[in-house]
Amino acid sequence: MNKKPGKVVLAYSGGLDTSIILKWLQLNYNYEVVTFTADIGQKEELEPAREKALLLGVKPENIFIEDLRKEFVRDFVFPMFRSNAQYEGQYLLGTAIARPLISKKLIEIAERVNADAVSHGATGKGNDQVRFELSCYALNPNIRIISPWREWHLNSRSRLLEFAERNQIPISKDKKGEAPFSIDANILHTSSEGKILEDPSEIAPEYVFQRTCSPEEAPEKAAFVKIRFKNGDMIAIDDEKLEEHELLEKLNQIGGNHGIGRLDLVEGRFIGMKSRGVYETPGGTILLEAHRAIESITLDRGASHLKDELMPKYSELIYNGLWYSPEREMLQSLIDYSQKYVEGEVTLKLYKGSVKAVARKSKLSLYSEKQVTFEDDNGIYNQGDATGFINLNALRLKILAYRRMKNN
Ligand code: ARG
Repeated sequence: MNKKPGKVVLAYSGGLDTSIILKWLQLNYNYEVVTFTADIGQKEELEPAREKALLLGVKPENIFIEDLRKEFVRDFVFPMFRSNAQYEGQYLLGTAIARPLISKKLIEIAERVNADAVSHGATGKGNDQVRFELSCYALNPNIRIISPWREWHLNSRSRLLEFAERNQIPISKDKKGEAPFSIDANILHTSSEGKILEDPSEIAPEYVFQRTCSPEEAPEKAAFVKIRFKNGDMIAIDDEKLEEHELLEKLNQIGGNHGIGRLDLVEGRFIGMKSRGVYETPGGTILLEAHRAIESITLDRGASHLKDELMPKYSELIYNGLWYSPEREMLQSLIDYSQKYVEGEVTLKLYKGSVKAVARKSKLSLYSEKQVTFEDDNGIYNQGDATGFINLNALRLKILAYRRMKNN
């Protein structure tokens, strides 16, 4: 007797590739396909994904569409920005930080509909397959993961298109030709890589950029923006309090107009190879500068330097797909603890692609004008104390110097 087919939850964008995966799962596995489409701020309409899933034979009750923008910014982007995370010193991790959330939802839906498998459209060469799968296994060790790109033989554009045509999958006109590069977008960033961008010795053409104007096109006049923080998180822009995702969206608008947040980077993928990517993170770039500035007056030097030592490790964990690991959680609690007094306001100046903090204040500031002043400090700091401080710090340097002199 034939067993009732199991269910597989597919991370479905509604685009051509994931539509092909949908059909392929139906044909190659004895699985009922459940689709999950998330709004994480990629600025694409979601309803067409529902229409397309229905057209491909997915039952209405098996179509899940969710707006995750607030959760994404509040529970993933903001915690990451508390650390000032930058992978290999530059990448703000816009794609990496979205994967754990999508995985979490895949697993939640799988549990809700009683599915025993999940599936995703990440290729076999990138970081995203690792991020999806490590996250899913961490949340549900019994889940089965189907990774079509590592299994099927549709590994050329013509084979994919042929499969789509044979199975009545609608192909929009602009998809007939090959896309010039691959894009991944969410509220934090847009990343472009592959195809015309593959040769890192070639300058990326201007049409690659989707959400920032070029610095040359940016307004001739500088703009100022004021960001307020509480517990290390942005809570208001120019005195306007908004929800987390609305704040980031607002910064994206401002940053995009001033050509801020472009990055052209060759990075080391977890899987071993190097790849070249073009990133646009307008709001995130402003937020990082502002967060460092508010920390500069509210974080103790020792705390701040320790954070900076741990940051590359924390960033690498996120890049490598280890969000749901004990070591990321341990570092997160340390980082969150450090943010207790990180509050106040930072003013930033935006001008032709650059963002610079130009003023900062906090009622919890550690900065003491009384101590640092070049004017008379009325005796709160005794300059004579510095003599002993320097003498003791110089002690071993002097001993080393005496040895060198004796030995020469
Ligand atoms: N290299 C980036 C990362 O691993 C982006 C990957 C996805 N981007 C894309 N355009 N397909 O986080």
